[in-house]
Amino acid sequence: MRILVTGGAGFIGVNFVLRTLATRTNVDITVLDKLTYAADPASLDVVADQVRLVVGDVADAELVDGLVGRSDLVVHFAAESHNDNSLNDPAPFVATNLVGTFTLLEAVRRHGVRYHHISTDEVYGDLELDDPARFSEATPYNPSSPYSATKAGSDLLVRAWVRSFEIEATISNCSNNYGPFQHLEKFIPRQITNVLTGVRPRIYGDGRNVRDWIHVDDHNDAVWTIIDRGRIGETYLIGADGEADNRTVVETILELLGEPRDAFVFVNDRPGHDRRYAIDSTKLRTELGWRPRYTDFASGLAATINWYRENESWWRNRKADVEAGYAKTETLLD
Ligand code: NAD
Ligand code: DAU
Repeated sequence: MRILVTGGAGFIGVNFVLRTLATRTNVDITVLDKLTYAADPASLDVVADQVRLVVGDVADAELVDGLVGRSDLVVHFAAESHNDNSLNDPAPFVATNLVGTFTLLEAVRRHGVRYHHISTDEVYGDLELDDPARFSEATPYNPSSPYSATKAGSDLLVRAWVRSFEIEATISNCSNNYGPFQHLEKFIPRQITNVLTGVRPRIYGDGRNVRDWIHVDDHNDAVWTIIDRGRIGETYLIGADGEADNRTVVETILELLGEPRDAFVFVNDRPGHDRRYAIDSTKLRTELGWRPRYTDFASGLAATINWYRENESWWRNRKADVEAGYAKTETLLD
């Protein structure tokens, strides 16, 4: 099977490529990646002889047409993915997440290629802390940030192309991922590497915001389950019942690293900060039989901490730049 993986040099895409090569046979992988600040092509070095890396933009229609025409399956991970960046400069989010997805869909339509669209639970907006509800496939779209609005728009493009042009597509909306190779701008790697470099973790606002954590390998196994057995045109929510508030996550990281649980600071909140995400993945579990393997968040977190400890060469040179970026807008709260 010839697979085109867009965004295959970023966090989830790298893990998808490595896991696919480790668990499946007869796969021929091409990665299309623009190598933005979020990418590290060196993450693919261990499989360099098994993967073709094409450096380019998913919004480049000519390039995309040629690559899609030589593929049996497209798995579309490429995106601008960070909410904080989308608040500072939304333009690349529109270009990549909307125009890039449109460009792929047009190529998929022309060539009749199977397409899987990677999306986020953030398209559903947020939930109150005391609301027993969780997101399901029936929840109305209500995105809050420029990032989540462009992801919501991209999902709706896919749905329209399925209905109007009968392309063979599926969509998955997953909760917050953690694991190896995640960029330092994101919450968990930022706080692990803060502690490892002697800096106190930074918690936005009151720290009570809840995210529903899933290990990246469980996400990618679910993606393969949907590609293998999902019904065309359907959306599946992916989640591992991993709800935790940000303060608890930071306290757990500090404890696992042998620091006092209260050795963190509060900083100014993210504008429009979504309060809580929670996924009901009943459809994926009952219809397709998927189950997460990482059901104990603390041990998944411990394994991730070990990975950042053992792979300091992967992140050390980037840390100062990431923190300098945050320092432009971040202020300590009393
Ligand atoms: P990431 O930012 O780590 O990686 C994104 C990759 O896309 C990078 O390699 C980057 O170079 C590439 N890219 C960006 N613009 C491009 C363009 N115009 N053309 C080609 N390549 C481009 O992101 P991630 O966390 O790995 O997320 C991957 C996908 O999963 C995204 O679609 C995101 O919305 C979705 N998602 C992420 C999470 C999460 O918790 N990280 C959860 C649910 C869904
Ligand atoms: O829900 C899925 C989404 O999860 C994905 O679609 C996004 O691509 C991914 O970035 C992630 O979005 P979040 O905004 O939830 O993730 P982030 O890692 O930026 O922040 C997680 C939580 O931690 C959020 O409530 C904000 C908070 N936070 C973040 C940082 C970077 C802090 O308290 N301190 C920080 O330093």
